[in-house]
Amino acid sequence: TVADLKGLKQGSLRLAVITTAKYIIPRLLGPFCELYPGIDVSLQVTNHEGILERMTANLDDLYIMSQLPEHLDIQFQPFLENPLVVFAPVNHPLSTETNISLERLAQEPFIMREPGSGTRRAIQSLLEENGIKVKVKLELGSNEAIKQAIAGGLGISVLSRHTLLSDAHQFSILDAQHFPIKRTWYIVHPSGKQLSIVARTYYEYLLGAAKRIVEEEIIQS
Ligand code: PGA
Repeated sequence: TVADLKGLKQGSLRLAVITTAKYIIPRLLGPFCELYPGIDVSLQVTNHEGILERMTANLDDLYIMSQLPEHLDIQFQPFLENPLVVFAPVNHPLSTETNISLERLAQEPFIMREPGSGTRRAIQSLLEENGIKVKVKLELGSNEAIKQAIAGGLGISVLSRHTLLSDAHQFSILDAQHFPIKRTWYIVHPSGKQLSIVARTYYEYLLGAAKRIVEEEIIQS
């Protein structure tokens, strides 16, 4: 019976995800935990550097991250897109302009994520490739804190579009050259590590959820 099948899925699931994925993973856990009440979940949210450390120490079953590690033997599977976009306060003068150049963006005070952040690294490599320097007014270790600082008028920043929730009316997403920066979330685990039944079940569940999300977006757009 279904109840017996559910009973088979017992144990613990250890997840570690980068900060941008916290906007989606906890919500997806709801239906999963309802489906498998016997599974206990621990979810760590940390930046790119933190994920690499946890992976090196083999602390978790599955990881979600955007930039794949170069020096670790891993298996990975694309999960969902994670585009980075330029956030400004809602009435910012640039919000009505199109095709804004990096040079123009660089004239605005910039709010930057902390060292170790994958978002920061992605922005920095775009700027370096184009020989552009931004004026970093403020460095903050959280996407949410950056959003508050932007809303407070301290500057502009580049964040994952997924960080935009019901507060979208407080921000304008600028139409800038080179943006969105295309990134993908991957589900990752060390190659040598055999996934538990629980981890495998969650892995399949995530892929199914991603498929539904993409389909819904296609229908909505
Ligand atoms: P971050 O992760 O929290 O390290 O910036 C986001 C990402 O790498 O996509």
